[in-house]
Amino acid sequence: MSQYQTLDDIEFRGKRVLMRADLNVPMKDGQITDGSRITEAAPGLAELLDGGASVVLTSHLGRPKGKAAAEYSLAPIAQELAKALGGVEISFVEGWDGTGPEDAAAALRPGELLLLENLRFEAGEEANDPVFAARLAGLADIYVDDAFSCTHRTHASITGVAAHLPAAAGRLMQKELEALQTALENPVHPVAAIIGGNKISTKLGVLENLIAKVDHLLIGGAMAHTFLLADGIDVGRSLAEPDMIATARRVTAAAVEAGCKITLPTDVRIAAEFAENAPSKAVPVDAIPTGQMALDIGPKTARAMNLVIAASRTVIWNGPMGAFEITPFDTGTNTLALAVAERTQIGALKSIAGGGDTMAALVHAKAAKDFTYVSLAGGAFLEWLEGRALPGIEALRS
Ligand code: 3PG
Repeated sequence: MSQYQTLDDIEFRGKRVLMRADLNVPMKDGQITDGSRITEAAPGLAELLDGGASVVLTSHLGRPKGKAAAEYSLAPIAQELAKALGGVEISFVEGWDGTGPEDAAAALRPGELLLLENLRFEAGEEANDPVFAARLAGLADIYVDDAFSCTHRTHASITGVAAHLPAAAGRLMQKELEALQTALENPVHPVAAIIGGNKISTKLGVLENLIAKVDHLLIGGAMAHTFLLADGIDVGRSLAEPDMIATARRVTAAAVEAGCKITLPTDVRIAAEFAENAPSKAVPVDAIPTGQMALDIGPKTARAMNLVIAASRTVIWNGPMGAFEITPFDTGTNTLALAVAERTQIGALKSIAGGGDTMAALVHAKAAKDFTYVSLAGGAFLEWLEGRALPGIEALRS
């Protein structure tokens, strides 16, 4: 399979570039609550603009299901992006009707930036409608995909359009793909994967793929409780999936077969209720009282997991070790996150994290900035961890 092109391989000076970014940021009451995706998109965009390209920027926001809806407009994003780019002027076309996007794109001069309205206001986007893909392609000379977090979607702006134009990965996409290659394709061993979160059922593909690739799997979060159940341990009122016990046993057997060592909690922090500062204590996993629930890994487990981290050269992280949103049940996640961050900073290992709550958990632990790479991708990161081919990346390769 051929390698994808990057901005180093294409001549974009004087060209009009259609850039697909992921500006799908969390919003509340019309306000952006976390603008990280906007800030991260800015340097790659600036490189194109400073290098003499004009840019037609596209993104989705939320899931408006093919219809225009004010709360999903990209207008507030345009303002935030202009700030992230140091006050660059951004033209914004409010909808997809008529020839608004086409006229605005045709009027662009080198160094100018145009943001189009939410792609998902058009039903053709998610349907990967060839007519909509051709319309997008008609807006530019070159296609640049900088949205790794959308590469698991077969949408017109991701796969459809790439067939029509010379295509390249943007800088953010390139950075992300290089980090992911470091972690799983050519990692320095020993490799440890820290996997947490609530359910085995949503992470089965991840576990199965990682077993074949990593040396050590550290399992925490509520999904560990299902593995404990499979070992015949009574987990009281802890969140678990009794119907996944057979699956947990299968995963354990496959790990033994593959020579991948699994570390499960040996102690947990328990409480009678899921609440901030609920009275709690650490107990061995086989001493969880019937009416109590485990909400975090315990200190002995954290120490054992830290020893594995200390012996690893590469660490992959997805999912929290406990209920990290409420104290004191953030302790296990914080302890491991800070250990990984410290080892990363002294150059002892490379650390790559992403998916779902992971970014929030590492930011909460004040460890995110000290990891080698923390992906802002959710579903795409998980599908990559599952070893699946991502259609958006395949489209850049063909
Ligand atoms: C994400 O937030 O993971 C991406 O923006 C993709 O969004 P989607 O799940 O709505 O396709």
